[in-house]
Amino acid sequence: MSTKKRDVGTRISQLEDGTQRAKPILHQHAREIQPYGKIAKLPIALDETACESSINNLNQILADTMTLRDMYKKHHWQVAGATFYQLHLLFDKHHGEQDEMVDTIAERIQLLGGVSIAMAADVAETTIIPRPPRGREEAPVQISRLLEAHEFILKEARTMAREASEVGDDGTNDLLVSDIIRGNELQVWFLSEHLVAVPLTHPEQAKVASSGS
Ligand SMILES: [Fe+2]
Repeated sequence: MSTKKRDVGTRISQLEDGTQRAKPILHQHAREIQPYGKIAKLPIALDETACESSINNLNQILADTMTLRDMYKKHHWQVAGATFYQLHLLFDKHHGEQDEMVDTIAERIQLLGGVSIAMAADVAETTIIPRPPRGREEAPVQISRLLEAHEFILKEARTMAREASEVGDDGTNDLLVSDIIRGNELQVWFLSEHLVAVPLTHPEQAKVASSGS
Protein backbone atom coordinates (compact mmCIF):
# COMPACT_ATOMS: atom_id res chain seq x y z
CA MET A 1 0.00 0.00 0.00
CA SER A 2 1.34 3.44 -0.88
CA THR A 3 2.11 5.96 1.87
CA LYS A 4 -0.60 8.27 0.49
CA LYS A 5 -3.30 5.53 0.65
CA ARG A 6 -2.23 4.54 4.19
CA ASP A 7 -2.49 8.21 5.25
CA VAL A 8 -6.07 8.44 3.89
CA GLY A 9 -7.03 5.21 5.75
CA THR A 10 -5.55 6.49 9.01
CA ARG A 11 -7.36 9.82 8.64
CA ILE A 12 -10.77 8.08 8.14
CA SER A 13 -10.32 5.84 11.18
CA GLN A 14 -9.33 8.85 13.29
CA LEU A 15 -12.41 10.71 12.03
CA GLU A 16 -14.68 7.74 12.89
CA ASP A 17 -13.19 7.29 16.33
CA GLY A 18 -15.89 7.73 19.03
CA THR A 19 -18.86 7.48 16.60
CA GLN A 20 -19.67 3.78 17.12
CA ARG A 21 -23.01 4.42 18.89
CA ALA A 22 -24.12 6.81 16.12
CA LYS A 23 -23.58 4.29 13.32
CA PRO A 24 -26.51 2.40 11.75
CA ILE A 25 -26.44 -1.35 12.28
CA LEU A 26 -26.86 -2.69 8.75
CA HIS A 27 -27.82 -6.03 7.16
CA GLN A 28 -30.02 -7.20 10.04
CA HIS A 29 -32.12 -10.34 9.74
CA ALA A 30 -34.55 -12.07 12.09
CA ARG A 31 -37.68 -14.22 12.03
CA GLU A 32 -40.93 -12.48 11.07
CA ILE A 33 -42.84 -11.12 14.04
CA GLN A 34 -46.12 -12.26 12.44
CA PRO A 35 -46.34 -14.77 9.59
CA TYR A 36 -48.80 -14.08 6.79
CA GLY A 37 -52.17 -15.70 7.49
CA LYS A 38 -51.87 -15.53 11.29
CA ILE A 39 -53.93 -13.16 13.42
CA ALA A 40 -52.51 -10.97 16.18
CA LYS A 41 -55.83 -9.98 17.79
CA LEU A 42 -56.46 -6.47 18.99
CA PRO A 43 -59.10 -5.58 21.63
CA ILE A 44 -61.83 -4.45 19.21
CA ALA A 45 -64.71 -6.60 20.55
CA LEU A 46 -64.81 -8.76 17.44
CA ASP A 47 -64.24 -12.51 17.61
CA GLU A 48 -61.38 -14.22 15.80
CA THR A 49 -63.62 -15.97 13.27
CA ALA A 50 -65.12 -12.66 12.17
CA CYS A 51 -61.66 -11.10 11.91
CA GLU A 52 -60.36 -14.04 9.88
CA SER A 53 -63.25 -13.88 7.42
CA SER A 54 -62.82 -10.12 6.88
CA ILE A 55 -59.02 -10.32 6.62
CA ASN A 56 -59.22 -12.98 3.90
CA ASN A 57 -61.80 -11.03 1.93
CA LEU A 58 -59.99 -7.73 2.34
CA ASN A 59 -56.67 -9.19 1.17
CA GLN A 60 -58.39 -10.38 -2.02
CA ILE A 61 -59.94 -7.00 -2.70
CA LEU A 62 -56.64 -5.33 -1.78
CA ALA A 63 -54.79 -7.30 -4.49
CA ASP A 64 -57.49 -6.44 -7.03
CA THR A 65 -57.56 -2.76 -6.06
CA MET A 66 -53.74 -2.53 -6.31
CA THR A 67 -53.96 -4.11 -9.76
CA LEU A 68 -56.64 -1.66 -10.91
CA ARG A 69 -54.67 1.25 -9.42
CA ASP A 70 -51.57 0.22 -11.37
CA MET A 71 -53.60 -0.31 -14.56
CA TYR A 72 -54.75 3.32 -14.25
CA LYS A 73 -51.12 4.50 -14.11
CA LYS A 74 -50.19 2.30 -17.08
CA HIS A 75 -53.00 3.85 -19.11
CA HIS A 76 -52.17 7.36 -17.84
CA TRP A 77 -48.69 6.93 -19.34
CA GLN A 78 -49.61 5.04 -22.50
CA VAL A 79 -52.84 6.73 -23.69
CA ALA A 80 -52.84 8.11 -27.24
CA GLY A 81 -55.15 10.02 -29.59
CA ALA A 82 -57.35 13.09 -29.77
CA THR A 83 -58.60 12.61 -26.19
CA PHE A 84 -55.07 12.21 -24.82
CA TYR A 85 -55.13 15.19 -22.47
CA GLN A 86 -58.48 14.57 -20.76
CA LEU A 87 -57.89 10.82 -20.42
CA HIS A 88 -54.31 11.39 -19.22
CA LEU A 89 -55.72 13.56 -16.40
CA LEU A 90 -58.77 11.38 -15.66
CA PHE A 91 -56.70 8.17 -15.43
CA ASP A 92 -54.33 9.86 -12.97
CA LYS A 93 -57.23 11.19 -10.85
CA HIS A 94 -58.74 7.70 -10.62
CA HIS A 95 -55.27 6.27 -9.85
CA GLY A 96 -55.00 8.63 -6.87
CA GLU A 97 -58.46 7.65 -5.62
CA GLN A 98 -57.69 3.93 -5.99
CA ASP A 99 -54.42 4.50 -4.10
CA GLU A 100 -56.41 5.95 -1.18
CA MET A 101 -58.67 2.87 -1.25
CA VAL A 102 -55.59 0.62 -1.17
CA ASP A 103 -54.34 2.34 1.98
CA THR A 104 -57.77 2.19 3.65
CA ILE A 105 -58.14 -1.55 2.92
CA ALA A 106 -54.56 -2.44 3.97
CA GLU A 107 -54.81 -0.55 7.25
CA ARG A 108 -58.15 -2.20 8.11
CA ILE A 109 -56.52 -5.63 7.58
CA GLN A 110 -53.81 -4.62 10.07
CA LEU A 111 -56.26 -3.33 12.67
CA LEU A 112 -58.24 -6.57 12.38
CA GLY A 113 -55.00 -8.29 13.45
CA GLY A 114 -54.05 -9.60 10.01
CA VAL A 115 -51.17 -9.05 7.61
CA SER A 116 -51.79 -7.04 4.43
CA ILE A 117 -50.23 -8.25 1.22
CA ALA A 118 -48.00 -5.51 -0.15
CA MET A 119 -45.48 -6.53 -2.79
CA ALA A 120 -46.13 -6.71 -6.55
CA ALA A 121 -45.28 -10.42 -6.83
CA ASP A 122 -47.80 -11.32 -4.10
CA VAL A 123 -50.40 -9.09 -5.71
CA ALA A 124 -49.84 -10.76 -9.10
CA GLU A 125 -50.33 -14.21 -7.54
CA THR A 126 -53.53 -13.17 -5.77
CA THR A 127 -55.49 -10.90 -8.11
CA ILE A 128 -58.40 -12.18 -10.21
CA ILE A 129 -58.13 -9.28 -12.68
CA PRO A 130 -56.79 -10.45 -16.09
CA ARG A 131 -53.28 -9.24 -16.90
CA PRO A 132 -53.12 -6.61 -19.66
CA PRO A 133 -50.33 -6.73 -22.29
CA ARG A 134 -47.16 -4.72 -21.68
CA GLY A 135 -47.63 -2.76 -24.90
CA ARG A 136 -49.86 0.22 -25.66
CA GLU A 137 -53.50 -0.13 -26.65
CA GLU A 138 -56.11 2.23 -28.10
CA ALA A 139 -58.09 4.36 -25.64
CA PRO A 140 -61.42 2.47 -26.03
CA VAL A 141 -59.58 -0.80 -25.29
CA GLN A 142 -57.89 0.75 -22.26
CA ILE A 143 -61.27 1.97 -20.98
CA SER A 144 -62.90 -1.43 -21.61
CA ARG A 145 -60.15 -3.15 -19.58
CA LEU A 146 -60.62 -0.69 -16.73
CA LEU A 147 -64.40 -1.20 -16.75
CA GLU A 148 -63.97 -4.99 -16.61
CA ALA A 149 -61.59 -4.64 -13.66
CA HIS A 150 -64.05 -2.33 -11.86
CA GLU A 151 -66.81 -4.90 -12.34
CA PHE A 152 -64.71 -7.73 -10.87
CA ILE A 153 -64.14 -5.55 -7.80
CA LEU A 154 -67.75 -4.39 -7.50
CA LYS A 155 -69.07 -7.95 -7.73
CA GLU A 156 -66.78 -9.32 -5.02
CA ALA A 157 -67.19 -6.19 -2.84
CA ARG A 158 -70.98 -6.67 -2.71
CA THR A 159 -70.62 -10.31 -1.66
CA MET A 160 -67.93 -9.42 0.90
CA ALA A 161 -70.02 -6.57 2.33
CA ARG A 162 -72.88 -9.00 3.00
CA GLU A 163 -70.46 -11.51 4.60
CA ALA A 164 -68.97 -8.80 6.85
CA SER A 165 -72.46 -7.84 7.94
CA GLU A 166 -73.36 -11.49 8.68
CA VAL A 167 -70.31 -11.98 10.96
CA GLY A 168 -70.96 -8.68 12.77
CA ASP A 169 -68.02 -6.75 11.30
CA ASP A 170 -69.80 -3.44 10.70
CA GLY A 171 -66.56 -1.52 10.11
CA THR A 172 -65.56 -3.73 7.18
CA ASN A 173 -69.12 -3.63 5.82
CA ASP A 174 -69.03 0.19 5.95
CA LEU A 175 -65.60 0.36 4.28
CA LEU A 176 -66.73 -1.93 1.46
CA VAL A 177 -70.02 -0.10 0.87
CA SER A 178 -69.01 3.53 1.46
CA ASP A 179 -65.48 3.55 0.07
CA ILE A 180 -65.08 0.64 -2.33
CA ILE A 181 -68.53 0.13 -3.87
CA ARG A 182 -69.48 3.81 -4.11
CA GLY A 183 -66.00 4.89 -5.23
CA ASN A 184 -65.79 2.26 -7.95
CA GLU A 185 -69.34 2.91 -9.16
CA LEU A 186 -68.56 6.61 -9.60
CA GLN A 187 -65.40 5.85 -11.58
CA VAL A 188 -67.35 3.41 -13.77
CA TRP A 189 -69.75 6.23 -14.67
CA PHE A 190 -66.91 8.59 -15.64
CA LEU A 191 -65.28 5.90 -17.80
CA SER A 192 -68.45 4.52 -19.40
CA GLU A 193 -69.53 7.87 -20.80
CA HIS A 194 -66.37 7.88 -22.94
CA LEU A 195 -67.61 4.80 -24.78
CA VAL A 196 -70.92 6.36 -25.85
CA ALA A 197 -70.75 6.95 -29.61
CA VAL A 198 -71.86 10.57 -29.64
CA PRO A 199 -70.21 12.63 -32.43
CA LEU A 200 -68.20 15.75 -31.58
CA THR A 201 -69.65 17.48 -34.65
CA HIS A 202 -72.66 16.93 -36.95
CA PRO A 203 -75.27 15.79 -34.43
CA GLU A 204 -78.22 13.82 -35.78
CA GLN A 205 -80.61 16.83 -35.82
CA ALA A 206 -78.17 18.96 -37.85
CA LYS A 207 -77.81 16.19 -40.42
CA VAL A 208 -81.60 15.97 -40.76
CA ALA A 209 -81.94 19.77 -41.09
CA SER A 210 -79.20 20.06 -43.72
CA SER A 211 -80.69 17.24 -45.80
CA GLY A 212 -83.97 19.27 -45.99
CA SER A 213 -86.21 16.40 -44.86
FE1 LIG B 1 -48.06 11.63 -14.54
